[in-house]
Amino acid sequence: MPVSSSVTVMRGTGLDSAGDFLRAVISGDREPADLVVVGVGAGGEVAADETLDQCLGHSAADVIAAAQLTGKAGQVAKAPARAGEKLIKIVFLGIGDASATALRRAGGELGRMIKPDEDAVTDVIAGRPAESVRAFAEGVLLGSYRFSEKSADEADPAKDSAVRLIVRDTDAGAPQAVSKAIVVASAVALARDLTNTPSVTKSPQWMADVATEIAGQAGLSVRIRSVKELARAGFGGIVAVGSGSARPPVMIELGYLPPENTEGTRRHVVLVGKGITFDTGGLSLKTNDGMKLMKTDMAGGAVVLAVMSALERLGVTDRVTGLIPAAENMPSGSAYRPGDVLRQYGGRTVEVRNTDAEGRLVLADAMAYADAELDPDQLIDLATLTGASRIALGGIRAALYSDRDELADSLFAAGEASGDLLWRMPMPEEYLSMLDSAVADLANVSAGDEGAGSIAAALFLREFAGNRPWAHLDIAGPARASSDDGDRSAGATGFGTRLLLYWLAGGS
Ligand code: BES
Ligand code: MN
Ligand code: ZN
Repeated sequence: MPVSSSVTVMRGTGLDSAGDFLRAVISGDREPADLVVVGVGAGGEVAADETLDQCLGHSAADVIAAAQLTGKAGQVAKAPARAGEKLIKIVFLGIGDASATALRRAGGELGRMIKPDEDAVTDVIAGRPAESVRAFAEGVLLGSYRFSEKSADEADPAKDSAVRLIVRDTDAGAPQAVSKAIVVASAVALARDLTNTPSVTKSPQWMADVATEIAGQAGLSVRIRSVKELARAGFGGIVAVGSGSARPPVMIELGYLPPENTEGTRRHVVLVGKGITFDTGGLSLKTNDGMKLMKTDMAGGAVVLAVMSALERLGVTDRVTGLIPAAENMPSGSAYRPGDVLRQYGGRTVEVRNTDAEGRLVLADAMAYADAELDPDQLIDLATLTGASRIALGGIRAALYSDRDELADSLFAAGEASGDLLWRMPMPEEYLSMLDSAVADLANVSAGDEGAGSIAAALFLREFAGNRPWAHLDIAGPARASSDDGDRSAGATGFGTRLLLYWLAGGS
């Protein structure tokens, strides 16, 4: 199991604080917990409680001062304590300014720190707004995410840890906030799992099989197009990119229809995710260093599948279609070549200058198909598209491209609310000439070395968005993390899943 903790709400228990819980343990009214977690604010302050001090054998303020805790979000320190007869641990958890962002980070570090089998009780979200509760719960769940193919873990899977949240009777929104956090976190964990799966397992057909299984559980329609169907229908980009692999490409189409009785105007949103199950670069072969992380090149597709899997449970009221063009980019005797001209869906021709710029070719087919056949009100694609976007923005924020301010602004805002942060990038018209070709309508990369690789890729995709409100998220940076940090685990992050679920289903 990917997420290895559970989060539940303690409401209507008559307990309002960690101190209340300790008193109930001492009086024998409640079983103790392994850990009792108290929040430490930005100035190193902690809510004063005589029982807490008594259990610690010192005042909590003294312990915090002695341990030099600053209350920075995510800081963790443990102190042994006595609750009646029982020896437990008090965990001091830095919650910074107690903003949703700080609580998400604090939750992440708590989720990471709790050992399997341990249980914790905390009051850090008591009396706080629903979005804070949600952020903290998401943090705990995602901080506890693990991906392991170690044989020892297979033989003896770790038990889940458990976190119980003390809320006040007035925190009416807390149970629902936690329920949403559970749905959203399990979607993010699904995206991480798919992206972390090695490519020896993860063929395009495997992606299709997983999508079909998830569709059955999540109330979605599913259609898988085989390479034969793709060739017949003119998906020339997907067919070319997949042609070097012994494992043929597919296109996955997932459909979500909101319940009949949903009121209001329903948008039709189409999400497109890059599904390159491994990117060697093709005949324009990458170096070993350049290729070693390329099992994650289907991260955009994983996010689309994960988002689709959660729509019904979140009660999303829009119609949503997910498209995942899935292919393995391999060099071989049957691979597509530099200099080839291919025909994208809808008829436009593209000169292939570099077979390593494959993502835009598979996305272009799916986007052109969406424009021609699906009548989307909004079209959004996600892709680990360019190393250039990673160089520009690093691993925290993804590049957002859109020529519609309203769509860009709403996505940016969903990023701030969800923690999947974006930064809007320019698409200057004069850069389009980089993609001029002497023999085809368009080239897949520039013939020169003028840079702006992420912008060029966005301008290429824009050609296939028709006149639709369209946004492109280049997630090459944040799709992967090299170390654990807050609620991000090393490896695949599932970046974009929360962003789109917040965007589709609202913040709290
Ligand atoms: N999948 C890569 C982009 C990538 C690079 C993602 C590093 C994550 C980390 C993409 O298919 C690619 O190879 N892009 C090339 C484009 C170039 C050939 C114009 C790149 O970025 O070098
Ligand atoms: Mn590539
Ligand atoms: Zn790629």
